[in-house]
Amino acid sequence: MPLTPDPIADCLAVIRRNWTAVPRVGIVLGTGLGAFVEQMQIEAAFERGDLPHFPAATAMSHRGRLVCGHVDDLPIVVMDGRFHIYEGHSLDLITLPVRLMRSMGIELLILTNASGGLNPDFHTGDIVMLTDHLNFMGTNPLIGPNDDRFGPRFPDISETYSLAHRELAANVADAVGIPLRQGVYAAVTGPNYETRAEIRFFRMAGADVIGMSTVPEALVAAHASLPVLAFSVVTNECLAPASAPVRGEDVIAVANAAAERLQSLLLGVLSSIGKLPRTPG
Ligand code: HPA
Repeated sequence: MPLTPDPIADCLAVIRRNWTAVPRVGIVLGTGLGAFVEQMQIEAAFERGDLPHFPAATAMSHRGRLVCGHVDDLPIVVMDGRFHIYEGHSLDLITLPVRLMRSMGIELLILTNASGGLNPDFHTGDIVMLTDHLNFMGTNPLIGPNDDRFGPRFPDISETYSLAHRELAANVADAVGIPLRQGVYAAVTGPNYETRAEIRFFRMAGADVIGMSTVPEALVAAHASLPVLAFSVVTNECLAPASAPVRGEDVIAVANAAAERLQSLLLGVLSSIGKLPRTPG
């Protein structure tokens, strides 16, 4: 059942008046990773207030703007900053950018975020490619009347993080010499970081990293059969029994420091995607 009014149609109308290319890849830039847009040839940028229905991004270091353009010959669309549950936004709004990008024509969604490392082998500054997730947000963006335009009522999400694209990204990381971890992401709402008991629990549950985003967007993508790649920067180590206190400022500083490596990885992935034929959306 389409939403009325239809936020996607409203946003598309504004975008199409300013940018007519059909993007192949959509990227969501997480905490501290916004500098990626400097790698783009920007052809249109929609600031807060330019797109109907878009909430103002309030999280630290999140601009909340939609940027359209090219990297080399590849048309892409980038959400520079994202919206989070802990800001009080509805899941419909949090996932609106992904559905919008899908409607624009993307064939791959790349999600990035900052996370706490639960796996004792992971260290601050490591880049982790997500292989799977645990949804501990206690909610789900697919709850409610199903919009059949996007996907089925009961979607299979057993390969949310596309194996073929993970292999492609692992090859790129090898080729450009960027160490790449792989692991499972546990999603919580925040805004608090975790208690020590929670850290023990999430590790026992099989999570390697933990954060406050990404899963709503990944679920909406999986619903729409849109392949996802997700990369997490470990900004702090959450190690039982006595993990150090976490500060938001430190999380941003570590993500900023890792941004250049993640950027090289993303550019390598985009270049590989650009060599493949467009897959029908
Ligand atoms: N927990 C949850 N979210 C996070 C963390 C963390 O330790 N670090 C960065 N985002």
